[in-house]
Amino acid sequence: MRRFLVAGNWKMNTNRASGAELAGALAVNAPASETGVEVLVCPPYPYLAGISDVVSKSAVQLGAQDVYFEASGAFTGEVSVEMLKDVGCSHVIIGHSERRHVMGETDEMINKKVKAAIAGGLTVVLCVGELLSEREAGKTESVLDTQMAGGLADVSEEDAKDVVIAYEPVWAIGTGVTASPEQAESAHEHLRKWVTSRYNAAFSDKIRILYGGSVKADNAEILMGQPNVDGALVGGASLKPELFIPIIEAARKLANS
Ligand code: PGA
Repeated sequence: MRRFLVAGNWKMNTNRASGAELAGALAVNAPASETGVEVLVCPPYPYLAGISDVVSKSAVQLGAQDVYFEASGAFTGEVSVEMLKDVGCSHVIIGHSERRHVMGETDEMINKKVKAAIAGGLTVVLCVGELLSEREAGKTESVLDTQMAGGLADVSEEDAKDVVIAYEPVWAIGTGVTASPEQAESAHEHLRKWVTSRYNAAFSDKIRILYGGSVKADNAEILMGQPNVDGALVGGASLKPELFIPIIEAARKLANS
């Protein structure tokens, strides 16, 4: 049985005080004894260390929104895997569509980041997803195949054991337009088949595939209730406890049903 993961991607939002307040509310909601559903928050870099202190005695896990693949040196503005671990991160999001489409990250760069993060012991949340034009051209599955093959190039089954995939159709991110449960399930099923053919059926059965793109309290249960959806990567609705906690609750309800 795959455990649900509900992850909040705060993007370039919050400040030191509001981030600590938000994380504090989540820490109270997810006490250290929590076992059913995993909860992850991914604040901006400057706030990671502070939020780490806030969540350290709870079940809330800490992740970064990106990482650089080199270990140290003259890479102005970049942050290494060791730095993330040093401030308490266990997870890192890699290949988010905003990194791909706003910052121009390629599958090759994403693959280097994936490999560096795995080598350093971070759990990778690898994001994949098609543009609206790609969906309309019937290319969704081939785009996903390319991003999966690129992101996981030279990553063995052993290395991929902690990788989490996030399917985030670009047209659903921050738009209020969610993929229908059928569209999400179809893409997730395709991704799981891809993992079966690249690795094997036993591994494919274990890997978690999150859905992301305008997840909210009122659509979380039906989306996460699809057979191949193992949680959510939430942007906008992760910024307020009253919006995010109901999504965690929806996962708890499904986990206990
Ligand atoms: P959204 O963002 O929930 O605001 O659509 C999701 C994401 O980009 O991870």
